[in-house]
This record gives sequence, C-alpha cells and structure tokens, in this order.
Amino acid sequence: MPSPSRYVLTGATSGIGAAVADALARRHHALVLVGRSREVLDARGAALRQLGAPAVSLHEADLSSVAQTLALAGDLASEPVDGVYLGAGILRLERQVTAEDLELNYAVNHLHKFILADALGPHLAPRGGRIVVGAPVGAVRGRLDDVHGTGSWSLFQGISTSQYANDVLASGLPGRHPGLEVVGWNPGSTRGTRVTRGLPWWARTLFWLVNLRGRACAEVGEQGADLMTGPAGRPLTWVSKRDTVSLARADELSADVDVLWDLDAAIIDRIRR
Ligand SMILES: NC(=O)c1ccc[n+]([C@@H]2O[C@H](COP(=O)([O-])OP(=O)(O)OC[C@H]3O[C@@H](n4cnc5c(N)ncnc54)[C@H](OP(=O)(O)O)[C@@H]3O)[C@@H](O)[C@H]2O)c1
Repeated sequence: MPSPSRYVLTGATSGIGAAVADALARRHHALVLVGRSREVLDARGAALRQLGAPAVSLHEADLSSVAQTLALAGDLASEPVDGVYLGAGILRLERQVTAEDLELNYAVNHLHKFILADALGPHLAPRGGRIVVGAPVGAVRGRLDDVHGTGSWSLFQGISTSQYANDVLASGLPGRHPGLEVVGWNPGSTRGTRVTRGLPWWARTLFWLVNLRGRACAEVGEQGADLMTGPAGRPLTWVSKRDTVSLARADELSADVDVLWDLDAAIIDRIRR
C-alpha cells in the first residue's frame, strides 16, 4: 500500500474514534472528520491541528440519516482519500425509529458504514487503500430477516443485528472492491468512552463493571492508528482486541453478503426516491 496520508474518520468526536484520530494526528496525517455538531467538530479540529495534523477538514452529518450520509459520501468521494475508519456507533436497548423509518441502531451502527464503504471503496481500491470497520468479529449473530425489529424485539436485538451486519459488510467488501484492504476490528472493552450514555442505569452499571477490566482509550486509539497505517495486509483481516484472528463463522458470513447488499440497497433506494 502506498503511504496513506489522508484519512476519513466517523465517530472521532468521542471515545475510541477520537483516540484513533488523536494518534493519527500525532503521526502527522491529514484528517477528515465527520460529526453531527459544528461546535464539537470545530473544537476537535483545533485540538487535532495542535496535536500535529497538517490539515483537518470537517463535515457535518447526522449518520442516523441515510439522506445525510449519502450527501456526505458524495462530498467525500470528490477528494482524494487514502484510508477510512468507520467507528461511529451507539448502544440502544429500546426500539427507536428514525424519521426515515429505520431502526436507530441499524442506521447509525451499520448503514452509515455500508454507504461510506461502498461509495469510497471504488476510490480506495485502485490505490490499495484501507477501510477499518468497527465490527464484533464473530461475537454475535444478528437477524438480517428483521433488521428494523418490526416483528418482535428482544433486549440486545438492535445492537446484535446492526453489529452482525458489520461483520457481513467487512466480509463482502474485498469481493465488491478488489484491491481494497479491509480490517474488521473489535477493540474490546474500552475505558473512558461515552458509549453507554443512551442506556438505562442498570445497563450502564453493567457495562461500567465489565469495562473496569478494559483497555484505556488512548492505548486502543494507538492500535486503531496502527491498523489504519500498518504495512500492506491481506484483502480481509479480522482483529479482536489486540490479536489478529481467523473467523470460525466465515462461511456463514459469506452466505449473508448478497442478502445484506440487497437489503441495504433496497433501504437506500427507498429513501433516495
Ligand atoms: N467502549 C467500548 O468498550 C466498546 C467496545 C467494543 C466496541 N465498541 C463500539 O465502538 C463504537 C464507538 O464506541 P465508543 O465507546 O467510542 O462510544 P462514544 O464515546 O459514545 O463514541 C461514539 C461516536 O459515534 C458518534 N455518533 C453517534 N451517533 C452519531 C450520529 N447519529 N451521527 C454522527 N455521529 C454519531 C458520536 O458522536 P457524538 O460525539 O456527536 O455523540 C461519537 O463520535 C460503538 O459502535 C461501540 O459499540 C465500544
């Protein structure tokens, strides 16, 4: 892979994504940040320039909106990009529906990744560019037969389905965009992020207890930057916490690739019309 120098990041206004952006800025890479608040973006842009990023461009978009994400994808595709980190995400246990009639976990955790990866893949692939997709790396099995939870709803369904879709997305990207390098990354329990803010108190307490044994955000951020900038890898690499792993359920995921592409394409078409 040629030395990548301009990286697009989602989720870089907080937590793991912010730590990845900090680490990339310290290594003097140019950054493109996507966020939903102009004020927060401006503050992050200034901090990243201070840390050493030679240039930071800021794009405002609510990634729960397919229409806004599609517009963003058009803007991003018009400028050279060397690598993409798709890290924005939420945790919601109750079923919430967006203005576009999408289940909220599915929209934020997965659809924005699908849209940006599929739009930027053709630009990245010819230059051996890389996409790092935040994904559970085989940890969950979701329900692609009911991604919006309209039939039934169980406690962790929104999280598991949206995250499983990201495993399928990572599995399918190298085949869709030959030349692209894809890393599916589950950073594992990480301290010092704000991901539990939308959860009820008992679930926040549970996650807090689990995360006591997790890694510090800054360490995870350095690893994320290594994954973005490391030497040329294979078309598809799975990384769970610190380790490169082989996925036991790779065949199951491959079987769902066409299902996911058709499903997401239909959602996007409906909203485009
Ligand atoms: N923390 C952990 O232990 C852990 C472990 C494994 C995987 N993960 C996954 O890693 C991802 C990031 O988690 P985190 O812990 O870093 O959480 P976080 O601190 O809450 O960061 C989440 C990021 O996503 C952005 N985001 C959320 N909704 C958005 C929207 N509608 N439009 C645009 N941006 C949006 C947030 O932007 P704002 O700043 O505007 O809110 C923020 O930048 C999640 O998918 C999480 O499930 C986390």
